Formats: sequence, structure tokens, C-alpha cells
Amino acid sequence: MSKPFKTLDDLGDIQGRRVLVREDLNVPMADGQVTDDTRLRATLATVTELADRGAIVLVLAHFGRPGGQRNPEMSLALVTRPYAQVLGRPVRFIDWDGAEDAVATMQPGEIAVMENTRFFAGEETNDPELVARIAAVGDAYVNDAFSAAHRAHASTEGLARALPAYAGRAMEAELDALEKALGNPDHPVAAVVGGAKVSSKLDVLKHLVTRVDHLIIGGGMANTFLAARGIDVGKSLCEHELAATCEEIMTAADGANCTVHLPYDVVVATEFRADPPTRTVNVHEVAADEMILDVGPAAVEALGDVLKNCRTLVWNGPLGAFETPPFDTATVALAKTAAALTRDGSLVSVAGGGDTVAALNHAGVAGDFTFVSTAGGAFLEWMEGKTLPGVAALYR
Ligand code: 3PG
Repeated sequence: MSKPFKTLDDLGDIQGRRVLVREDLNVPMADGQVTDDTRLRATLATVTELADRGAIVLVLAHFGRPGGQRNPEMSLALVTRPYAQVLGRPVRFIDWDGAEDAVATMQPGEIAVMENTRFFAGEETNDPELVARIAAVGDAYVNDAFSAAHRAHASTEGLARALPAYAGRAMEAELDALEKALGNPDHPVAAVVGGAKVSSKLDVLKHLVTRVDHLIIGGGMANTFLAARGIDVGKSLCEHELAATCEEIMTAADGANCTVHLPYDVVVATEFRADPPTRTVNVHEVAADEMILDVGPAAVEALGDVLKNCRTLVWNGPLGAFETPPFDTATVALAKTAAALTRDGSLVSVAGGGDTVAALNHAGVAGDFTFVSTAGGAFLEWMEGKTLPGVAALYR
């Protein structure tokens, strides 16, 4: 089936052509070492394919938030060596001063990382002059950085309009997976939305109730919904001021035939630390000095049954305080059920967001999901139903 965007398959003969590839090299570093190279590895398919096809590969990326100023601590020179190790190939580093001359010395198949695009004031304002300056060193543009596509910046949006533009392999895989999960999914569709606060995911919830058949709410967010239903949640994390908003979301869900699932049993403790004394209780039995820290086993089993009857799952956010044992239990159990259903071929499962990836890794099942997105803000904006500017610019 033809796609609504061009891919590397449409690039044609690129021998000796200069291809500007927007990647996300915004990796965590400590003491000069990359502490998580997932994003570097995510670029491999596109960058090696372009190099093997004889292109001059110019990798564009941001690193941190230097705010339009040069900052040696945020120079992509720091990432170039670890990146070369991940690629297993030599990688040059090119500063923007004199970039055209430096690029002119490159041979087909060579790869270079260009200096942090956010050192330019015009990057974040998507300044046409900067777009023209960057476009001058390339013949084609490939966007492979879904996780930066929620930014309408020169390197994510402007260039797609200035040069022939294509989705890279990672971007293509991400867009295909997201389309299968929410754009045009097999029903019934379930969404798991967890995390601490309703306030940070209001737009996600509002959008999801119109798209999914089952909305499973976990984490601190569930407490706010329970409280809105008149349940005493004791000392639990809870945004009491959002009661009316929760009611609106529930009403919208009813109107859209979306079933909202809140836990009916929960794991509580009087202190939040690893392995404190806990009780598993009905949500109506939380004592005044207790906190809800995880979904209970009966609810997790019922949620597993919901997933068994679904064809598609979208997951963002843990069900409990999963970083502090034993409050990882519900998240791990439901993630394992989703992974097993995916392996059996009955469920398409797509998960995303920093915490979610960590939770699935912790459960040892990230590799079993159909697709796991490492994007943070971009994944949330996509779950809100927003058009991401970097993606929209490729849909032409
Ligand atoms: C990320 O780390 O989520 C992306 O690289 C985007 O970074 P930003 O939030 O600074 O735009």
C-alpha cells in the first residue's frame, strides 16, 4: 500500500548526493559517556543504508536546550565518538562555520555529524534564512527523528519544505505503528494511561475517549478519578481540584461508548518507600493515613481479561509507583499479559513515553511489544491527537 509520505525507497540514485538526515542524538550523558544509547542505535538503519547507497550523509540534530547560543557542553562533538562506536564506522564532526567547504571534501559513503542546530537562534523560530543556510549544504532531506517531530523547528519542519523530503526508516516504522494503533486500528482498542497526574495528561484522556473502546486508568491519576466518584483516597496523591474535569471525561466516555476502567482493589501503605508493610483493600476501605500505591491483583486480572478481548493496545504510563517495589507488581503483571497476547498474535501493542519504556524494560517485555516508541513529548502529543509539525511536513 502506498504511504502518505515518501520514504528512502523513493530517493532514487543518491550516489555522491548530499543527504541531510535529521536524527535525535539528544542522549543522556554522564562523565563524557553516553548512559543510554537507544537513540543512537535507532539511527542505524537509515544512516547505514544511505551511506551504503553512496550518499554523503550529513546528520543534523539538537543536543540539550542551549537556547540559540553556542555552549561547549552541548556540542555534538561530544557525541560524535560514541556515535561512531555505535555505527561501527568513522564519523566526522563538522561545525557550521565553513560547513560548505568541509562537506565539499567528503566522499560518497562518508558520514558526518553537524554541530548542534540549536546553537542557531533561528532553529527554534524556524527562521527561513537559517533553513536556506542549512539547505545549501544538502541535496535532499530525510527526517528520521519522530521524537523531535513535535517541534516546528528549522531542522524538523522548515527543511522538509525547502528540499525534497523523505521519512527515514525509524520514522517510517514509527508512523506505521502509530497508524496501526490509533489512526486506523483493529477494534476493540484499549488504552492504558498511567502516571502521577491527570493534569499532565488531560488532553490525552479527552482524545482517547473518542478513539478507544476501553480506557484503563492507573497510577496517581486513578486516585483523582476515584476521588471524583466520592471515594475517600486517604493520603494518596490526588488532584482534588480536578474532580469536575474527571466527571466531564467520564461523561464524554459514556457518550462515545468507551468503558473507563478504574481499579476496584488497590495496594496501600502508610509510608512511601521500598518494601513497607502493605494492605490490599477494596477502594472503599482506604484508611485516612494510607496511600494508594498500586492497582490490586483482582483488578489486574480483570484488566488482563479486557486485553484478551482487544485487538489493539496503546500504553502510556505505569499503573503504580513502579520504581519502588513492590508497587511495580500490577504494571509488570499487565505488561506480561500484553506481551503474551502480542506474541500469540492476538494483540497489536504500542507503548511509548520515557517512564513506560523503563517500566516495560523492568518487566522484561519491551521486546515483545509490537512497537515501543522512545519519544517522550512527541508520543504524548500524538496521543492527544495533535498533528506533529515535523510529520505534517512530510505528508505532502
Ligand atoms: C527529547 O529528548 O524528548 C527530544 O530530543 C526533544 O527534545 P526537546 O524536548 O528539548 O525538544
